[in-house]
Amino acid sequence: MAIISSKKQSPQPERPDKNIFLASESKSSYKTKKSKSKTETDEIEALLEAEATAEDKNNSNNEEKIRPQKLAEYIGQKDLKEVLNIAISAAKSRKEPLDHLLLYGPPGLGKTTMSLILAAEMEVNCKITTAPAIEKPRDIVGLLVGLQKGDVLFIDEIHRLSKMTEEILYPAMEDFRLDITVGQGKTAKTRSIPLKPFTLVGATTRVGSLTSPLRDRFGIIQRLRFYEVDELSLIILRAAKLLNTAITEDGAEEVARRSRGTPRIANRLLRRVRDYSEVKKLTPVNAEVASEALELFNVDPLGLDWTDRNLLRTMIENYNGGPAGLETMAAATGEDAQTIEEVYEPYLMQIGFMQRTPRGRVVTSAAWRHLGFTPPDEQLSLKL
Ligand code: ADE
Repeated sequence: MAIISSKKQSPQPERPDKNIFLASESKSSYKTKKSKSKTETDEIEALLEAEATAEDKNNSNNEEKIRPQKLAEYIGQKDLKEVLNIAISAAKSRKEPLDHLLLYGPPGLGKTTMSLILAAEMEVNCKITTAPAIEKPRDIVGLLVGLQKGDVLFIDEIHRLSKMTEEILYPAMEDFRLDITVGQGKTAKTRSIPLKPFTLVGATTRVGSLTSPLRDRFGIIQRLRFYEVDELSLIILRAAKLLNTAITEDGAEEVARRSRGTPRIANRLLRRVRDYSEVKKLTPVNAEVASEALELFNVDPLGLDWTDRNLLRTMIENYNGGPAGLETMAAATGEDAQTIEEVYEPYLMQIGFMQRTPRGRVVTSAAWRHLGFTPPDEQLSLKL
């Protein structure tokens, strides 16, 4: 399957003709000089030349080897699968592309995997890119014109698209059309270029940061949830089989319990446990081996790592458990505020260790106890 990664593009060539603008492109962004040698058609063609380079995705690395290829192989996210199954059947029977789909939720829950599965189910290509890699209007134009009928274009971190790119996407998503302005000043003309019908799959960890015009153009908006331990156990057993790793059911469950509800983490921990069991010649991986290995890698029985524990401990020791603001937590721990908010907090809130209140973040009694502290309400009753 061809994957386009704008990150892997060779350096952008000089803009071939500086007298062409996308309808949404600010004319002040390019210093222009009118070219007399090219016709209007040449100008448009030059702009539409796809610039992204294609990369073949193959199954040779471990990550790809264990990625489910079909909806039937995908474990968990029952509601999402049901919604997508219906959308796929309906689109196939009408011979139309799937509706544009927005997937949101914490990182590592399978947004990219789901996009690849959708393309496989629809028997089309999937091109993958990420919003920060789409720097200039030409980048998104190149991607859009390179799509074949029905193809899936996956844009990760879609909340980070520039305004200009978003505005190019509106007519593209709605009417499969690119609006291009040729020339400038009084002679400027807008031209519409038809695109092949396609499906945009957007992924984000911050659905609230999407502009409403963009959000409103997605026909299906779905949240991915954290996985249950039994679902993660099945994911681990499946991956272990594909990686030829001997693991017992309780070994898989031990890894699952420490995987923070996240398949990406489950697969990562499985690889660490596999290394440990191979080196120590402790096979198959049972609960004891898994637990020994993960202790060594500093992953505690609830899946908290050093950073999670440091965040909680800092809140407890410096702010008596909060409330404390996000920026305060970031400054006190040296972690990036956005990473705290998008990567660490969702799971800490999910397991009831942290709450977001209007006055700031608060660490719950359960977290105090987990870290070996006496919660403030219990300290009070001890004194009485
Ligand atoms: N690997 C990663 N996520 C998965 C899932 N949801 N089902 C099966 N295998 C996976």
